[in-house]
Amino acid sequence: MGDLAEADATKTTTAHLKLPGDKTVELPVTVGTEDEHAVDISKLRGASGYITLDNGFGNTGSCSSKICYIDGEKGILRYRGHPIEQLATQSRFIEVAWLLIWGELPTPSQLAAFSEELTANAMLHEGMLHQFEAFPPDAPPMAMLSAMINACSCYHPELLRMDDEEHMAEATAKLISKVRTIAAYSFRMSIGKPINYPNPALSYTRNFLHMMFSEAFVPYDAPDEVIRAMRMFLILHADHEQNCSTSTVRVVGSSGANLFASTSSGVCALWGPLHGGANVAVINMLQHIHDSDTSLSQYIEKVKTDPNTRLMGFGHRVYKNFDPRALILKDAADDLLNALGLSDPLLDLAKELEQVALHDEYFIERKLYPNVDFYSGVILKAIGIPVNMFTVMFAIGRMPGWIAHWYEQFQQTARIARPRQVYTGAGERDYVPADKRG
Ligand code: ACO
Repeated sequence: MGDLAEADATKTTTAHLKLPGDKTVELPVTVGTEDEHAVDISKLRGASGYITLDNGFGNTGSCSSKICYIDGEKGILRYRGHPIEQLATQSRFIEVAWLLIWGELPTPSQLAAFSEELTANAMLHEGMLHQFEAFPPDAPPMAMLSAMINACSCYHPELLRMDDEEHMAEATAKLISKVRTIAAYSFRMSIGKPINYPNPALSYTRNFLHMMFSEAFVPYDAPDEVIRAMRMFLILHADHEQNCSTSTVRVVGSSGANLFASTSSGVCALWGPLHGGANVAVINMLQHIHDSDTSLSQYIEKVKTDPNTRLMGFGHRVYKNFDPRALILKDAADDLLNALGLSDPLLDLAKELEQVALHDEYFIERKLYPNVDFYSGVILKAIGIPVNMFTVMFAIGRMPGWIAHWYEQFQQTARIARPRQVYTGAGERDYVPADKRG
């Protein structure tokens, strides 16, 4: 991870840590742009022999970063300083991707050049098609996505080292463009239909939907409302600072692993139901409530009493208030269904469930609010994305964020991420041969 002493944040004060044996250690305090304070413990072990313990890293800043700002208490999210509400309604996904990776909104000529690069890199090497064929028909799309992103490193060995910005730009265009092609091909293969090659005349989002849904001689031309909703979905998922998958990308990248390998490991981390997999879990939960005789209050009671049942799409490590992305997606779900003349009982159910939870002492006390995954599935369902592709959609959106963080860390001349532990296992003991073990 980057050396905190080299970061822009200024050290203004010093914290004093009193340890047993009347030993006091002085630790610098780092202050970020928005006045967040952090005790810099990078010299703690050397000075005292102590380490810190922080299960799940809830109190640990792993790096300093200029990419994304969240105020979880106020429900604020900004990419490179720009409020998410403005980007979600006024920007395009590829513009946001550029912003995250290179730090500024692109000029019109930069955006046009980036768009051309994405178009030029949309195709996969034909050799990769044989790899797709080797997967069983019911292979989970997230497993295919991760494997095929990693496989890209076999086809672009020249990008395994980042010698200059040009290499970075090339790898970036390949990843952002190909992740969408890989996703669509996985879907087509899984339903036993021929793949659709990317169409260079189409925009990023339209092209993806064409690759997903066009049939032979019947091109799929998505309605504008669908394109708008999909763009918004991708923008809202594009980054979220040091979440589980992004931290994974940074940890893997810190060993010097290349961008393809690092982002493919991000896909694996995202797959879990406590992270990106929650968008699947939410729809399954809503469907289950809808199809069963369970009332909303019975379901909430179960969530409160059964340690193995959670209200999926609720709660967040950072947000202790509304997740601004959930607020935007809730309205977007309404707008999309209205525009398409659809109604979805699961959206109505989600809204009711939200109200029941928000008025329940259990959720109030723990500050549990809807997160990004609570309403996103309703939108994806209305667009026609099958449930097993929901988390893949999240991964397409998150790719620019993973790349931005990988690159930022690369530029910070990172130290390898290698946490310590407190060992609580057996003390030293002798080996006993098998025939002597009771
Ligand atoms: N339903 C019921 N109870 C919950 C929920 C939930 N969704 N989330 C948290 N809690 C409870 C916990 O049981 C715990 O209660 P306790 O203090 O009585 O033990 C308390 O709230 C704190 O929860 P933690 O698990 O400590 O919170 P943490 O920050 O570790 O977890 C997480 C955050 C994983 C998102 C959690 O809220 C969760 O499991 N939510 C459901 C899954 C989900 O929607 N994940 C998507 C997150 S957004 C994203 O990754 C894109």
